[in-house]
Amino acid sequence: MSHTGEPRPMSAVPGATLNGSAEIPGDKSVSHRSLIFGAMAVGETKVTGLLEGADVLDTAKAMRALGAEVIRHGQGEWSIHGVGVGGFSEPADVIDCGNSGTGVRLLMGTVATHDFATTFTGDASLRSRPMGRVTDPLALFGAVAHGRSGGRLPLTLVGATNPAPVRYKVPVPSAQVKSAVLLAGLNAPGDTIVEEIEATRDHTERMLRGFGAQVETDGLVITLKGQPELKPQVIAVPRDPSSAAFPVCAALICEGSDVLVPGIGLNPTRAGLYTTLREMGADLTFENAREEGGEPVADLRARFGPMKGIEVPPERAASMIDEYPILSVVAALAEGVTVMHGVKELRVKESDRIDAMARGLEACGVRVEETEDSFTVHGMGGKVPGGATVGTRLDHRIAMSFFCLGMATQKPVRIDDATVVETSFPNFLPLMEKLGASFRRHND
Ligand code: S3P
Repeated sequence: MSHTGEPRPMSAVPGATLNGSAEIPGDKSVSHRSLIFGAMAVGETKVTGLLEGADVLDTAKAMRALGAEVIRHGQGEWSIHGVGVGGFSEPADVIDCGNSGTGVRLLMGTVATHDFATTFTGDASLRSRPMGRVTDPLALFGAVAHGRSGGRLPLTLVGATNPAPVRYKVPVPSAQVKSAVLLAGLNAPGDTIVEEIEATRDHTERMLRGFGAQVETDGLVITLKGQPELKPQVIAVPRDPSSAAFPVCAALICEGSDVLVPGIGLNPTRAGLYTTLREMGADLTFENAREEGGEPVADLRARFGPMKGIEVPPERAASMIDEYPILSVVAALAEGVTVMHGVKELRVKESDRIDAMARGLEACGVRVEETEDSFTVHGMGGKVPGGATVGTRLDHRIAMSFFCLGMATQKPVRIDDATVVETSFPNFLPLMEKLGASFRRHND
């Protein structure tokens, strides 16, 4: 797998024209939650369209380690025989969450109100990320964390013996932290109340309601009634808007392109990129808008055309937090300046994404400016030189962003390690090839 195997340097061949339709894989956030909530229900949950990326497969392994039966029946088709809320058993070994912040943080919440110890680790990227944001609220339930300095992994979490429900105001805009607290609250008696400072993706709330839990949202305050019996579900995972962003944006920047990505989940807490692209003047339409499994869905059609730089407001950050790397690529090819405000959370993702994009874009001849909380890209009106090697830093979205940039630059952009795309979009390269992109593998 990517993060332990040999790095694979690759580049896209510049001058691509993308055409046709592409089937995007399942949503990563919903896939993790399908496995975890399924494992906490009583009986068999059936899932279709599950993302089979490395992050989600690591969560599947973790659910087995905690005592649930998780079976793969075919491509994206899985079933989970849950053990019920409070029914997990102590894992016999360390749980390795690989590259996945969502996996480890949701799992920490889950085991925080189980009376046993769990030790978590991950790859070099995950081991460098802050976990105190999750272990601090979990301590209020009675869980005790022993991690490395700064609360980093490897970390052992000793779950509460007699969990008490909590009220917690999440100090950072993070769906992972919100979800960890709600998951811990599932096995605590009484009401667990989470207050957000900004609305973040709400898949946990929506899906837990689907599983039969009592979850009420009043503005930014979410109240969960503890110790419900979760009922197994049949889940069709919507296609991931964060993955769709790559072929969509590649089509917008590659001359002559016209691409359709059908059936993309457009939950408003996830769709900020598409609003931003339209403000930039992108030729992007939503066709066949409908609802599937309680989530808004549409077919996205993206056509090449001129775009202009804009100011992206801070209040939009949560709804497009994973899309800033690919937006920076679009901004580099647009005419004029794009300023992204309120983006400091990007510094604690799989990599420091502001730094990774800034250094990579600079190496490709693009002028950028950054502050702790903002990122500015000076667009070059379609003429980005390229001709550099960029570091992907164990970060799938950095790798895919620079692959897309390299389809539209004057000289190739070399990515130091293509294997990292496995994390969230295992068929990224063949899918882009089907649309008309070409890639070269470098053996030196
Ligand atoms: C996710 C929440 C976001 C996002 C991540 C998935 C989730 O992280 O970046 O890819 O599924 O809850 P934060 O909660 O750290 O913002």
